[in-house]
Amino acid sequence: MSAPKPIVAPSLLAADLAQLGREVERVNRSGAEWLHLDVMDGHFVPNLSFGPDFARTVRPLTSLFLDVHLMCDRPEILIEPFRRAGADSITVHGELRDRVPELLEQIKKSGAKSGLAVNPDSSLELVLPYLKQIDLLLIMTVHPGFGGQQFLTEVVPKIQAAARERRRSGQAFRIEVDGGVDHGSAPQCLQAGTDVLVAGSYLFNSDNMAEAVAGLRS
Ligand code: DX5
Ligand code: ZN
Repeated sequence: MSAPKPIVAPSLLAADLAQLGREVERVNRSGAEWLHLDVMDGHFVPNLSFGPDFARTVRPLTSLFLDVHLMCDRPEILIEPFRRAGADSITVHGELRDRVPELLEQIKKSGAKSGLAVNPDSSLELVLPYLKQIDLLLIMTVHPGFGGQQFLTEVVPKIQAAARERRRSGQAFRIEVDGGVDHGSAPQCLQAGTDVLVAGSYLFNSDNMAEAVAGLRS
C-alpha cells in the first residue's frame, strides 16, 4: 500500500496580513488541506503573533482544517478561546514538561484534536510518554519564533526516530514538521516519515501557491 498523500499546511505567519482575505483565498485554491496558525506570546518565544480573535476572523474565510500551534508559556488560558474561535487542532510544546498531561487533557475536553511539539534542542524522550494520547507530533525544524529561517537538517534523525517509534508501538499520531520547509527540505522530511508539512515563506513568497504546494508533495 502506498503512503498516504502528505498534507500541506501553509503557515499564515508568512502571509501579507494587509491582504488577509486574499491570502486565505490563495490557500483555499492551492490544494493545501490545512491552515497552520503560529501563535506566539512573547514569552515562550521572543515574538508576538495572533490571538483567538484573529482565528475567529480567519475561520469563516476557509473550510480548511485549522491547525493551531501555541508557542505560549500559558496555553491553558488559550485552549478554550481558540477552540471557540474555530480551531480544529491545538498543539502545545513538550518543553512545558510536567504541565503537558493536564494541557493535553484540556485540549481533549475542548473537543479539538491534540498536538505536542518538540523544539530542535529537545530530545524525543521529552514527548515519548505522551505519544499514545496525541493525534499530532510537531517536530520543529527551526528554533521557534520567526518564519523564514533555514531548515535544520540535524533534526531529520529525530523525524526518523519518531516514525520508528510509531511503527514499533502501532500508535496512530501524525508527524508534522514546521520551519524552513521548501522544495529542498521537504523530500528528506517525507522520506523520514513526515505526514504534514508546515510551510510559510516558501508558499506565501511563491507566485503560484498551487504549484509550490504540489512541489512540496512530489
Ligand atoms: C517558527 C514558525 C515557522 C513558521 C513557518 O516559530 O513556526 O516555522 O511556521 O515558517 P517558514 O516556513 O517561513 O520557516
Ligand atoms: Zn508552527
